[in-house]
Amino acid sequence: MEMEGFAPSGSTEAELLQRIDEGRLPRHLAVIMDGNGRWAESRRLPRVAGHREGIESVREIVESSALLGLEALTLYAFSVENWKRPRSEVRTLMTLLKRYLRRELDRIHRHNIRFLAIGRIGELEESVRTELQHAMSATASNTGMRLYVALNYSGRAEIVDAFNLLLGERKKNGDAAPVDEELIARHLYTSAVPDPDLLIRTSGEMRISNFLLWQIAYSEIYITPTYWPDFRRRHLLEAILEFQKRDRRYGGLQAPCEGGR
Ligand code: IPE
Ligand code: IPE
Ligand code: MG
Repeated sequence: MEMEGFAPSGSTEAELLQRIDEGRLPRHLAVIMDGNGRWAESRRLPRVAGHREGIESVREIVESSALLGLEALTLYAFSVENWKRPRSEVRTLMTLLKRYLRRELDRIHRHNIRFLAIGRIGELEESVRTELQHAMSATASNTGMRLYVALNYSGRAEIVDAFNLLLGERKKNGDAAPVDEELIARHLYTSAVPDPDLLIRTSGEMRISNFLLWQIAYSEIYITPTYWPDFRRRHLLEAILEFQKRDRRYGGLQAPCEGGR
């Protein structure tokens, strides 16, 4: 794959990019951004230093994904379970999120990215909701990559929300057609995009932690020991190359001829 300005010629990134098959990119990439705390602890820094550095990785992965031409990128930023952390850590995470949105909105816009927050956003504090709303409306007419940021997110809660939405519609319309997979998928937070082709989890944990439970039915999973703050463009390209080697069978015997895309 050739792409001007993506990486200086002769760099590792440029060499990796060359090996990527443009026709078999994942359409939707999902990432469990884990390991900020361990990154900081390994440097004898406070955990929040890891979250701060993790923002740099977010910027780089968002921009690289947009430049590669992915249709959707979904980042797991804060789970419903993350409220169990010390209040000061939660506060820092929310502050960093607001700062990221304020600082990066112009660049997000310039890359024609559409920003969307998913999760139980109504339960976040008002100043966060205001910032999210602003970023969503400012980028609503952008036609490039959709950037979903999962906040106060839980895969089970998403399925519960989909059912309640559906039940509400049925009550209103008196519709009683049988429920099928397509109908449930249409009521999920990510109904506008295909299911993730590739799910990346950084920092080595071999679990899903309540992320996109419905949508990852046939996603390829890539787990790297690299901590999120160290995960940059090069690592993204390595993950995509590994994805392109996978044989996606969907329960059949042979890889479908179109591959990833
Ligand atoms: C990921 O890093 C960020 C969030 C979950 C908000 P962690 O904070 O979970 O870092 P570790 O897993 O403790 O290293
Ligand atoms: C998953 O990471 C959630 C996010 C990345 C936002 P956690 O660090 O919260 O997951 P567990 O606790 O290790 O499963
Ligand atoms: Mg963690």
